[in-house]
Amino acid sequence: MNIAATNIILSQNDIQNCLERLANQLRQAYTQEDNVVAIVLLEGARRFAADLIKEWDRKIPLYFLRAKSYGNDVQSSGLVEITTSDRLLPDLTGKRVLLIDDIYDTGLTLRAVLDYLAPLQPADIKTCILLEKHHPHARKIPIDFLGATVPNTFVVGYGLDYAGKYRELDDIVELEGM
Ligand code: XMP
Repeated sequence: MNIAATNIILSQNDIQNCLERLANQLRQAYTQEDNVVAIVLLEGARRFAADLIKEWDRKIPLYFLRAKSYGNDVQSSGLVEITTSDRLLPDLTGKRVLLIDDIYDTGLTLRAVLDYLAPLQPADIKTCILLEKHHPHARKIPIDFLGATVPNTFVVGYGLDYAGKYRELDDIVELEGM
């Protein structure tokens, strides 16, 4: 079977528009006095987070969590494994956490990460997600800042991968032939 990343779902231009809109929303949501900490889910959200924070033009500490449930498959395994990576998380007590992820699909990953962060007693947690799939989610998650909604197909590019491939594409494209 031929797997090909072809049909463009979001072009570079569309992505840039999302970044500008999200950055404006973030500027309105957080004052300069707010103690904001961004927690980025690896690997998929790394590029989105970097571009977004540059667009936001605000110096905030960035921390990373690795949340894995997919392996090489396109279906969630249903089990989410969370590891802190690169740097340990700081003391989140009283901080305003901005959780940045690439895609809200089943919602299992975001649910697991929110459940992991809540006991660390941040002042609040807001979710900033680049993409949301159309379909009903297994776990309903409040999304505070959303880039775009995409069809219920497997999408890759702009940081999202299939088995380690296509991450470097500048557009977000549909993976066909699955
Ligand atoms: P869930 O299903 O837990 O998924 O909401 C969250 C994580 O799974 C990955 N994922 C995808 N990755 N194209 C991808 O490249 C997709 O269509 C896709 N759907 C889910 C992604 O890492 C996300 O954070």
